[in-house]
Amino acid sequence: MDKRKIAWCITGSGHYLKESIDLMLTLDNVDLYLSKAGEEVLKWYDYELSDFKKKKIKIFKDVTSSSSPVSLMYESVYKLVVISPTTSNTIALMAQGISNNLVTNMFAQAGKCEIHSLVFACDTEPVVITQAPKKLVTLYPRKIDLKNYNVLRKFENVTVVDNVSSLKKSLKKLIK
Ligand SMILES: Cc1cc2nc3c(=O)[nH]c(=O)nc-3n(C[C@H](O)[C@H](O)[C@H](O)COP(=O)(O)O)c2cc1C
Repeated sequence: MDKRKIAWCITGSGHYLKESIDLMLTLDNVDLYLSKAGEEVLKWYDYELSDFKKKKIKIFKDVTSSSSPVSLMYESVYKLVVISPTTSNTIALMAQGISNNLVTNMFAQAGKCEIHSLVFACDTEPVVITQAPKKLVTLYPRKIDLKNYNVLRKFENVTVVDNVSSLKKSLKKLIK
């Protein structure tokens, strides 16, 4: 049996945060990686890190300059990196090959270790209705956001999805 875990990364996106967390909590072999904004945004949406810890989920925060937890990628600890939800900022960095924080380093190192990544991009349509902390708001992703998303879709060893149903289907396929 494959005992390797899933590294689930949460970035600072309110869009599809709940759906991502609900899906993550169905898994029993997951470690949680948070961007700095991800850690902040969880609080905006009333999530407590202690609730994840109670479910035995190990949490890695972005507190080192070198993103030291990525060394686990070299130890065959993970079989898959999931980044869900993914901000337009993180999509832009990853699409340009920039790895300057914990989540973008997890993505880059996954690529270099030939570990598959599953990315749930949120700004994928010209008009997006998103969940702000207190209400739904309509946003209009810029051309550059859509361009970065399309660049990332062409990466090898990376699956980019744009809706919850595809996220669930791809996850099932990738961990079976
Ligand atoms: C309450 C709240 C919700 C946010 N939701 C989104 C979002 O849905 N999508 C997005 O691209 N950025 C969103 N942001 C902005 C990001 O958190 C911000 O761009 C941050 O710098 C992203 O950092 P990261 O990509 O390292 O997580 C939100 C910010 C706040 C305060």
